[in-house]
Amino acid sequence: MKIITVLGARPQFIKAAPVSRVLREKHTEIIVHTGQHYDPNMSDIFFEELNIPKPDYHLAVGSGNHGKQTGEMLQKLEEIVLDEKPDYLLVYGDTNSTLAGALVAAKLHIPVIHIEAGLRSFNKKMPEEINRIMTDHVSEYLFCPTDTAVENLKNENITRNVFNIGDVMYDAVLYNRAIAEEKSTILEENGLSKKEYHLITIHRAENTDDVQIMQNILEAFSKIDTVKVWPLHPRTKNKLASYGIDVNAIPNLKLIEPVGYLDMLTLVSNAKKIITDSGGVQKEAYFMKVPCITVREQTEWVETLEEDANIIAGTSVEKILEAVQKNVSPSYKDVFGDGMASEKIVEIIETQS
Ligand code: UD1
Ligand code: UDP
Repeated sequence: MKIITVLGARPQFIKAAPVSRVLREKHTEIIVHTGQHYDPNMSDIFFEELNIPKPDYHLAVGSGNHGKQTGEMLQKLEEIVLDEKPDYLLVYGDTNSTLAGALVAAKLHIPVIHIEAGLRSFNKKMPEEINRIMTDHVSEYLFCPTDTAVENLKNENITRNVFNIGDVMYDAVLYNRAIAEEKSTILEENGLSKKEYHLITIHRAENTDDVQIMQNILEAFSKIDTVKVWPLHPRTKNKLASYGIDVNAIPNLKLIEPVGYLDMLTLVSNAKKIITDSGGVQKEAYFMKVPCITVREQTEWVETLEEDANIIAGTSVEKILEAVQKNVSPSYKDVFGDGMASEKIVEIIETQS
């Protein structure tokens, strides 16, 4: 079987690593990198660290408004798909690269495989929600990470070829955790002591693109005494600069460049708490049993909310501080599969071919 995999953004490289490894044992995979993320520490580092094969095509689309970015991807991808004539086209998650890949393939009658299907925030102001809904509705095979995701699809009348196989990000964590422990020196480099710092990540457009929301979040951070480490996403860096805000004024804050996956796993697993608006980081906090505070009004990963393992704090200063101060001792359940999602995906596609 010949599969085109479309990747473009940081979390997609991480999700693709375990799946590509299994897929390539018996099948031909052609990787197309849209170029949505392009800084070396947002892209190349993941290919190198996770041994993801070099992309066969690089579209170099780069940043831009949604229409321009997605449109350019559509044009360039179509040519490749027409030329390569794959049996399937595989996309991950909910980015503009996901939507572009799914639309191109569906219109050319190439069956779309969507990994991380069925997630919903029920907030259509998020570009990701539009991308997910559109992608799910044109996909032929829908691989869901949770029962909730299966249920969400059922509510939209999507029931054919829907499989809950667990979360490929859990596969990635299990595979890389020990490697990270052995190789990463990020704690030493930044003078961080285990379980004595909070890890911060913020990049959602709904937060970064509103100066008032960003100011609230930063005010909350400045009132947290614990040491905080914050690998700054380029979107957030650019937005803060455009607002003229200097976060270095926040006490006990270590602002660092985006880190590779092995360093990130180390930062996640050794944090006292995690404050984030990232989808992937909410899950990784849960996998590694680190209390999480989500700086958003809702989450797609509702399983993590049980027993306050993850607290939805929104973006008010008081609610963020209250959530950070709350003592929690959740039991953490096995709700994200058994770490064999990638094997199951490949096996299911093989039986359908
Ligand atoms: C994208 C996804 C989001 C995902 C996130 C993962 C969409 C609509 N959004 O958001 O769902 O959670 O990736 O990180 O697809 N930039 C750089 N260098 C880079 C990449 C981006 O400087 O390598 C800057 C540019 O100023 C760019 C901005 O970041 O305009 C936003 O990048 P973009 O890919 O459009 O969206 P993300 O916020 O990264
Ligand atoms: N991540 C990373 N380095 C960083 C920040 C995040 O490797 O500096 C990893 C993180 O561990 C997770 C993924 O990137 O696996 C999440 O990506 P992101 O937060 O950019 O996107 P989202 O999951 O919200 O779509």
